[in-house]
Amino acid sequence: MKQLRVGVVGLGWWGKLIVDQLRQCPSVTVVVATDRVPEPGKRFVAERGIAWVDDYDHLLAIAGIDAVILCTPHATHTGQILQAAEKGKHVFCEKPLALLAQEARLSIEAMKSRGLTLGLGHEKRFEPPIIEALARVRRGDIGIPLQMEANFNQDKFLGMSQNNWRFEETDAPAGPLTATGIHLIDLAVAVLGRAKAVTAALGRSSGQLRNGDTLGMLVEFEKGGHALIGAMLATPFSGRFALYGSTGWIDVRDNAHPEHPQGWTMRISRRGFAEEVFSFPSHPAVRDNLEAFAASILDGADYPIPTDDMEANVSILEAVVTSTRIGQRVQIFSTSRPPQL
Ligand SMILES: NC(=O)c1ccc[n+]([C@@H]2O[C@H](COP(=O)([O-])OP(=O)(O)OC[C@H]3O[C@@H](n4cnc5c(N)ncnc54)[C@H](O)[C@@H]3O)[C@@H](O)[C@H]2O)c1
Repeated sequence: MKQLRVGVVGLGWWGKLIVDQLRQCPSVTVVVATDRVPEPGKRFVAERGIAWVDDYDHLLAIAGIDAVILCTPHATHTGQILQAAEKGKHVFCEKPLALLAQEARLSIEAMKSRGLTLGLGHEKRFEPPIIEALARVRRGDIGIPLQMEANFNQDKFLGMSQNNWRFEETDAPAGPLTATGIHLIDLAVAVLGRAKAVTAALGRSSGQLRNGDTLGMLVEFEKGGHALIGAMLATPFSGRFALYGSTGWIDVRDNAHPEHPQGWTMRISRRGFAEEVFSFPSHPAVRDNLEAFAASILDGADYPIPTDDMEANVSILEAVVTSTRIGQRVQIFSTSRPPQL
């Protein structure tokens, strides 16, 4: 069996989870890892027989590595992708791809121009009920999509040190946006395409998260349809994706945080039919995403998240941040000009 040989960068909460998921992917070998600080990451990978290097430059210099998996703070993503592209490495980047649309375009172009694959940590697209919901929407089961309503809330960051990068405007503008809201923006783009305008408001009511804990977003799309997205970091976990169409609706509820998935409940209502309720068992969507990334490199399969969607996602992210800062509706203009590398 062909093997993708990868290096993992950043061994915090998600990097460790990714290493253990990758170890269960038959087509992937984790060869090496690094972190800006050696412990506890060095010990963690040593226990798993994975080599350690002291920094990213040394990791990129290893000729036997095909790809890097970036599990680092958000403001580092663009620079790390551009460096990897120069060294001819494929990249799986944790979300968000970037904090500015122009940075996203630079990364996408840097990878594309060298024939490299770009994967992105939006595992919600790989959850079985979401795959099922998107297939039903494409089949026309609920008619014309009118409005998505979704939320992704959690309270894992309460009590964290105020020095954590998650509370810095430079890494996490608009509080919950880059932590949880961005996953739902990805789903909104998957269903409704490019956005034309965003109105967003940010609250700081818990007083514990200085960059904000309660985010409300209204996204309007070029081809019609809206998304109403909530993202909160000051209330216990809840995850919901609902899509209302001209002849019916689909509502998917997460039973648990994607860190430890415990299945989903899906309700479907179609005009003229009795409401249906389906239960989906737990499924490792994070691993499926990593396997799809590997398959795209090893077998030439299409990676399920198109780069146009990645760019559309960051365009919305940037507009959300601006809207929360200026307190107004922000328009998004498509750019057809290729970025300058
Ligand atoms: N897909 C998901 O559901 C999901 C869930 C959680 C986190 N994430 C993403 O994973 C990424 C990491 O988040 P986290 O929660 O693990 O953060 P974390 O703070 O727990 O870990 C980040 C690690 O990166 C290291 N680091 C910082 N700068 C570095 C650099 N320049 N080079 C190498 N290492 C560096 C830090 O020392 C730290 O160990 C973020 O992009 C985050 O949004 C994704």
